[in-house]
Amino acid sequence: MFSRYRKDSTAPVSTAPESRAVPAHEMARVTPSAQIAAPLPPANPPRPSFKAQPATPIAATAAANDKDRRRRQRILEVKSELHTRLLDNLNLAALDNASEAELRAEISAIAAEALSDINFALTSEERLALNQDLYFEVRGLGPLEPLLKDDTVNDILVNGPNRVFIERDGRLELTDVTFKDERHLLRIIDKIVSAVGRRVDESNPYVDARLADGSRFNAMVPPVAVDGSLVSIRKFKKEKLGINDLVNFGAFSEEMAMYLEAAVATRLNVIVSGGTGSGKTTTLNALSSFIDNSERILTIEDTAELQLQQVHVGRMESRPANVEGKGAVTQRDCLRNALRMRPDRIIVGETRGEEVIDMLQAMNTGHDGSMTTIHANSARDGISRLENMVAMAGIEMPLKAVRSQIASAVNLIVQASRLQDGSRRMVSITEVTGMEGDIITMQEVFRFERTGLEPNGKIIGHFTGSGIRSHYSERFRRWGYDLPSSIYDAVK
Ligand SMILES: Nc1ncnc2c1ncn2[C@@H]1O[C@H](COP(=O)(O)OP(=O)(O)OP(=O)(O)O)[C@@H](O)[C@H]1O
Ligand SMILES: [Mg+2]
Repeated sequence: MFSRYRKDSTAPVSTAPESRAVPAHEMARVTPSAQIAAPLPPANPPRPSFKAQPATPIAATAAANDKDRRRRQRILEVKSELHTRLLDNLNLAALDNASEAELRAEISAIAAEALSDINFALTSEERLALNQDLYFEVRGLGPLEPLLKDDTVNDILVNGPNRVFIERDGRLELTDVTFKDERHLLRIIDKIVSAVGRRVDESNPYVDARLADGSRFNAMVPPVAVDGSLVSIRKFKKEKLGINDLVNFGAFSEEMAMYLEAAVATRLNVIVSGGTGSGKTTTLNALSSFIDNSERILTIEDTAELQLQQVHVGRMESRPANVEGKGAVTQRDCLRNALRMRPDRIIVGETRGEEVIDMLQAMNTGHDGSMTTIHANSARDGISRLENMVAMAGIEMPLKAVRSQIASAVNLIVQASRLQDGSRRMVSITEVTGMEGDIITMQEVFRFERTGLEPNGKIIGHFTGSGIRSHYSERFRRWGYDLPSSIYDAVK
């Protein structure tokens, strides 16, 4: 068959499986091995049932299961053989310009040829699934592709080739997705990082990148990753959760939404604090919707995730050094530059280092209404984190001076949390009210009150005001946000 996508269309396609162009040292990897399709324990092993079971011929069932398992394993082996053969036979450079239909047709033809060569028959369903997998290997990210396409998946977490977890509805699940071996996993990682001009190998064992669809990607490879490469992907959500979605999901209450609207619109400086994956970026993005369309907003992130809806938005993304150790642009560089770009507000995706100094200064010097997130477990802890970051940045300043800088820069700390049942909630909104002696004073205005646990593990609780009126009530009123004082009432 002639095809411009074959490397050499006149060369015969290797006919016997053992004659394909795989170096001998790799043969062991593609031939059956326990590693290839090692069945994983189910993510949630079924509980033993005490119901009477219908009598089944146990031996017959076991034999059928075994046959099934052996067939699945064989299909995996065939897939890996076909994949190697595809890579050997396809002209990858020409493939870049091939349409999806052309590529699929080509894959299906090569697969059909190879299957007939090795005399292995597949049902039409199996054949379709195989062609799909092979397509994903060539054009996409292999076994990860279906997970990337599944909108219910938030995170994809790979712990070596045989363990791929996903996070869905706030909970981790083990999937039955596997890579052929570590080499296969490394090839997919390499595909991702080389597309963004980066490299990952023994001397450069970890990398941050952004996938073509905007998803955040981090990988760490052996030997630093001890049991095989570690990959973490935070999926990019095309439809960002807005304030109304968050209220509907029970992430916070209507009253809190009213309060936050007033706080953002009246240009309070807001910090969203929370643990990893607690919904900080989502909250920051939702809060930004309260910013007026006429304002010039500059965003600074390590990986651009925010999606602001305003017209006047300038986005910046920091950049690590290249392989020669050159060209790094830190968040601090971006922030310093941003101050010369006439911003009305500055939003830093996450403050985690020396940029804290410039962030606090910006908040204190006319760029009020700025926002950022920090990694901390409570408002008080958030303040300590800021203090530590200032200290780590090498600024010689007495603690009291640092604290007073923080106290006058930060108006509000919104604490996001992922609870044990997987739900993400804003567990507290705390105002910074000033200093008393050496201590920064704060008052909580809203919180999530946990009252119990449903038998299915779901947390029961409600949002409540603390009974204390906002320190900024007068400011809100002056700016036209006359919030009823009842929103701060404690709910029993
Ligand atoms: N209230 C919510 N309800 C349901 N899903 C949510 C909620 N808040 C956030 N999510 C989802 O949870 C995931 C993590 O959210 P997000 O990226 O905002 O967390 P983060 O705290 O910024 O994480 P990281 O520490 O990794 O930066 C995202 O996929 C997001 O869509
Ligand atoms: Mg985040």
